[in-house]
Order: sequence, then structure tokens, then C-alpha cells
Amino acid sequence: MISGKGSNLAAILEAGVPVKAVVSNRSGVGGLDIARAAGIQIAAIERKAFAGRTEWEDAMAGFIEAAGCNLVALAGFMRILSGAFIDRFKGRIVNLHPSLLPDFKGLDTHARALAAGKKEHGCTAHWIIPELDEGPIIRQAKVKIRPEDTPQTLQERVLAAEHMMYPQVIKDILAGRVDLPE
Ligand code: GAR
Repeated sequence: MISGKGSNLAAILEAGVPVKAVVSNRSGVGGLDIARAAGIQIAAIERKAFAGRTEWEDAMAGFIEAAGCNLVALAGFMRILSGAFIDRFKGRIVNLHPSLLPDFKGLDTHARALAAGKKEHGCTAHWIIPELDEGPIIRQAKVKIRPEDTPQTLQERVLAAEHMMYPQVIKDILAGRVDLPE
């Protein structure tokens, strides 16, 4: 599930992860072009096209189920999902977050890490539970913060760490090498 440029999706594909389908909550984003070029089934399912959140989430879940996916990986998906959606994929849905959770849940993590005077930052892959950015952590990758870092330069290095870490996490889950959440 994506919302934007899809650099993590590209890394996942380059790593040889079998991706059955890609759903974006925004149309016209780069990640959909990457998926299309790879011959993957895609759907842009925008919240505004539906009367309510339940109908929107049902459409996304229906697409994912019809594609026969057994793991749902959020890769830059920027909308909050309801408990009902998460329950539907219980134990089969993971997220990638650009911080060392539990630090800096939510948005603007790089600027906030710099403002807080942190010495290191990074990214986290975790199982999803209804509480935002709070599910059991699967793996983290750390990035040292440099004195000259801006949010932009820090984001670039964290993104590179994401590209190394997340495809391997997905492979490990699919190979049964990661404990499932309780
Ligand atoms: C990534 O840095 C990802 O960790 C972040 O969005 C970016 C997406 O980049 N996700 C979140 O902030 C989720 N809350 P991408 O579209 O190039 O993969």
C-alpha cells in the first residue's frame, strides 16, 4: 500500500519480493508508475471517491483480497487505517516508519529528531495494530545524525536505510523467519 513516489516499493521489487498487487490512496503518484512498469496489478482508491471511510477501506481490502495477497506491506502509505481494516488483516500487515520507534510517531520525524538534538535517527518495521505506530517492532536500522544535517539530508540517509532493511524484513516474514504478533 503506497501513497507517493514509491522508492520503497522499487527497493522491494529490486530485491525480488513477489508483489501481487499495489494499491495507492492517491492517483497519479510515481509508485503506481513503478508498479505498472513491473506489470503488477494496481489500483488507485481515493478516500474522496467514497461516502465514508468504511466504504473506502472495504474497497481497498476487497482489492487486496481479490489479488490473493497473504501479506500487506505499507510502504509510504500516509492515511490512518481503522481497527476494522487492521483486524481484517490481523497478523498479516506491516508498516515502515521513518523513526526509531517509539520515538517520533506521526509526521515530520526528521525535523523533529534534529530539533530534539538526537544523535541518531532511523527507521522501524513493525506489525500494525490499531494504535498509530505502536505495533510490535520487527526490526530497526539506525542512522547517525551529523552536525550539518538538515531534515532533507537526514531523510535521504534514512530512506537509504529503509531501502536496505524493509525488503529483507518482508522476505524474512514470507519465509517464516519472523515471529508473528501475539
Ligand atoms: C518513507 O520514508 C516511509 O518510511 C514514510 O514515507 C516515505 C515513503 O517514501 N512513511 C511514513 O511516514 C508512514 N507514516 P516512498 O514512497 O519513496 O517509499
